[in-house]
Amino acid sequence: MNIDIRTAGAAAPDLDARADFCRELALSAGGVALDGFGRAEGFRMKGPQDFLTETDAAVERHVKRAIAEAFPDDAFLGEETGGSAGRDTWVVDPIDGTANFARGVPHFCVSIAFVRDGATEIGAICNPALGELHFARRGAGATRNGAAVRVAPTRDFASACVELGWSTRVPNARYVAALAALLDKGANVRRGGSGALALAWVADGRSDGYAEVHMNAWDCLAGLLLVAEAGGRVGPFLDLGGLADGGPVIAAAPGIAEGFAAATGLALAA
Ligand code: IPD
Repeated sequence: MNIDIRTAGAAAPDLDARADFCRELALSAGGVALDGFGRAEGFRMKGPQDFLTETDAAVERHVKRAIAEAFPDDAFLGEETGGSAGRDTWVVDPIDGTANFARGVPHFCVSIAFVRDGATEIGAICNPALGELHFARRGAGATRNGAAVRVAPTRDFASACVELGWSTRVPNARYVAALAALLDKGANVRRGGSGALALAWVADGRSDGYAEVHMNAWDCLAGLLLVAEAGGRVGPFLDLGGLADGGPVIAAAPGIAEGFAAATGLALAA
């Protein structure tokens, strides 16, 4: 893909190097994912509604190898091969939205986050089917294909479009209660099947909120940084131990954030 994605970053030479590397890596990994999508290779199931394709593994191999070559002392945590956190940790979902990918729906992405000392410093989400790269650096704003993005100015649930995520890790009743509360408020509630893209879309104002009762770190860290850097409100995912264990995810445009938190029963960071 040929996308112009360069933006200024905060002054910290080794983070600058990782930020440039991360942008390029998200794009090349998106290319690997798109090649696999074109081959329509089929899928197998890891569990109920938990899809796996050969491309998940191929993208993770590509990303893991590149990180090991460029930053051999950094830790790696990936959806398919696992790992554990260190002072500097790359957190990678090779394909978020695998259920879409596996069924031929072009709504999936590669999500890469870099975490240092408990804070997400860099986040990149590449949707290769749309040719879009969302990128954020802590303290330096959020971009889509190099142009600054901001969350939506929405203040009223009657014009709000939000998204809820669901997984078999949480009882259905919890999801249904949040859905009912949001519908009662008058929101339009979507479910797109890629939590990472859902967060990227809150950051760029296409959507007003995303919530899921439990997500893993690889699904959400890049997206949470994007929303925070785009002026949105997010939950305290890392402070609640989300890097190791996953946890609740909420992100929203400020004008509806309090109502969204009340409806979903998920807490926003102070
Ligand atoms: C899943 C997607 C889905 C979310 C799940 C995730 P995967 O990730 O983000 O939208 O609801 O919680 O596990 O399996 O496609 O990488």
